[in-house]
Amino acid sequence: MPGREDVARFPEIREPLLNTVSAFGKNKRIVPEPFDVSGVTDLSGAEEMPAIPDVSEVETVRHFTRLSRLNYGIDHGMYPLGSCTMKYNPKIAEAAAASLQSIHPADRNAMSPVLKYLNLLQKYLGDICGMDAVSLWPAAGAHGELTGMMVISRALQVRGETRGKVLIPDTAHGTNPASCVIGGFGTVNVPSGEEGFLTASILKEHLDGDVAALMITNPNTLGIFEREIREIADLLHENGSYLYMDGANLNAILGVARPGDMGVDCMHVNLHKTFGTPHGGGGPGSGPVLVKKELAPYLPLPVIDEDESGLFTLEYDRPLSIGMVHSCLGNVSVCIKALAYILSLGPHALPEVAKAACLNANYLKKKLSGLFELPYDTPTLHEFVLSDKKQKDDGVTALDIAKSLVDSGFHPPTVYFPLVVHGALMIEPTETEPLQELDRFVSAMEEIAGQSTYDPGNLHNAPHTSPVARVDETAAARNLILSWP
Ligand SMILES: Cc1ncc(COP(=O)(O)O)c(C=O)c1O
Repeated sequence: MPGREDVARFPEIREPLLNTVSAFGKNKRIVPEPFDVSGVTDLSGAEEMPAIPDVSEVETVRHFTRLSRLNYGIDHGMYPLGSCTMKYNPKIAEAAAASLQSIHPADRNAMSPVLKYLNLLQKYLGDICGMDAVSLWPAAGAHGELTGMMVISRALQVRGETRGKVLIPDTAHGTNPASCVIGGFGTVNVPSGEEGFLTASILKEHLDGDVAALMITNPNTLGIFEREIREIADLLHENGSYLYMDGANLNAILGVARPGDMGVDCMHVNLHKTFGTPHGGGGPGSGPVLVKKELAPYLPLPVIDEDESGLFTLEYDRPLSIGMVHSCLGNVSVCIKALAYILSLGPHALPEVAKAACLNANYLKKKLSGLFELPYDTPTLHEFVLSDKKQKDDGVTALDIAKSLVDSGFHPPTVYFPLVVHGALMIEPTETEPLQELDRFVSAMEEIAGQSTYDPGNLHNAPHTSPVARVDETAAARNLILSWP
C-alpha cells in the first residue's frame, strides 16, 4: 500500500474505484435532454445486471485523468525498453482505425473494404520482408512464433517426416523456446560465437536428421546482425530443416534488407513494434506470420480472397491449413493502424526508419560505453547492451541503474536480458527520439554513473520521485494480488 509520503506527493494514488462513488442517476446529470441515453442499453431481459458504475461525466473524466498521471507512456517521454521497440505511435493511424470501427463483421458487403485493406497490408508486409504469403491473424509475436511452429509441423507431417527439435541461439527471447515446446518440439540451446552472433560452424555441430528448424532473431537481442545467416540457411536447407526468423527486431532492417532474401522460410513480424502500433498498456498486439510459397498451404484459416466481381471474402476451403488461430479477423484495428503507418511513410521513408533507429542507438552507445561496460564490441544496429560490471564494485546493480532513470523522467531499459550478458542493460531508443531527448538520457546516465561511486545508497533506494517507490519485484511476482483492496 502507498505510504504517507507517497500520498503527499501523488494524491492520485488514493484514487477510488469508480463503483465506490457510484450512485443512482448520477450519469444523467449533465447529459442534455436531446441526448438522453437512458433507453440505449436495454438490459431488462438480462438475468443479472452488470455492475456498471453510475457516475457523472465530470467524475469519469477526472478519474481517468488522475489515473493517467500515475502512469508513464511513450507520449510522455523516451521509453528505451530494449527489444520492445517502444516508438512513438503516430495519431493518424488511430484516426484510420477509428474510421472503420462502426462496421459489423457479419455484414459481408460492408466488410469487403476492410478485407481489401487487410489484403493490401498482407501484400506490403510480403514485399517488405521478401516473403510469398502472409496471415495476419496471430495476436502477438509469441502467438506468431507458435503459429509458425504449427505450420512447420504440418509441413513435416505432409512430407511424411517426424523431426523432434528446434535449435535456438542463446541470445533468444524467452518466448522462442516456449512457443516451440507448445508447438510440440523439443528445443536445443545453441551458443553464439565470441562476437555475439551464431556461426555456420557452430550450427553444423548441432545439425542432424531430427532438426525441424532453427529459430533465430535477426538482428539478435544484442542488436548484432546475424551476418552468417545465408550460409546458415543453406546448411539448414541441405539438412531438410527450416529457417524460422523471429522478426521482432525488424525495425533495424526495415526497407533495407529482406529476410526472404536471407533464406528465411517462415517468420513473424510484430506490428506493435516495427509498424508503429501501440502496445504494452496502450493496446493489443499483432504478430502476422509470413512464409515462402512451399509453406503457404498450411497458413491459418481463413484466407482473404477476391471474387470475379471484385468483392473481398474469406475463404475457408484449405484442407492442409493448420486451422484457425484467432477468432474473426485477429486484432483488426492494429492491422489497419499498421497499414496507415506504412502508407503514411511510403517506400522511400520506410528505410529511413531503420537508418534513424540505428543512428540513434549508435549515438547513445558511443556516448555511454566509456561509463558502462560494453560486453560485445561487435557493431550493432538498433539497440545495444551494456552491463553493470563497472558499477558492481561499488555495489550498484543493473536494477539500481534502471530504477534511478525513473527519477530522471525515463522509463527504464530492459534489464538482465539477454541472458548471455550478466547484469545486462538493453537500450533501444528507436528512430522517433529527437537529439535533445537522447542527450537528456545521456546526462541522466552520466549522473547515475557518477553517483555510483560517491552516493551508491541513493541508487539502491531509487526511484525517489515516482508515485510508487521501489517495489519488491520477486514478492510481487510470487504473491500475486490481483484485486484492489
Ligand atoms: C526478440 C523478441 N521475440 C519475441 C517477442 C515476443 O513478442 P510479443 O511480446 O508480441 O509476444 C519479443 C517481445 O518482447 C521480443 O523482444
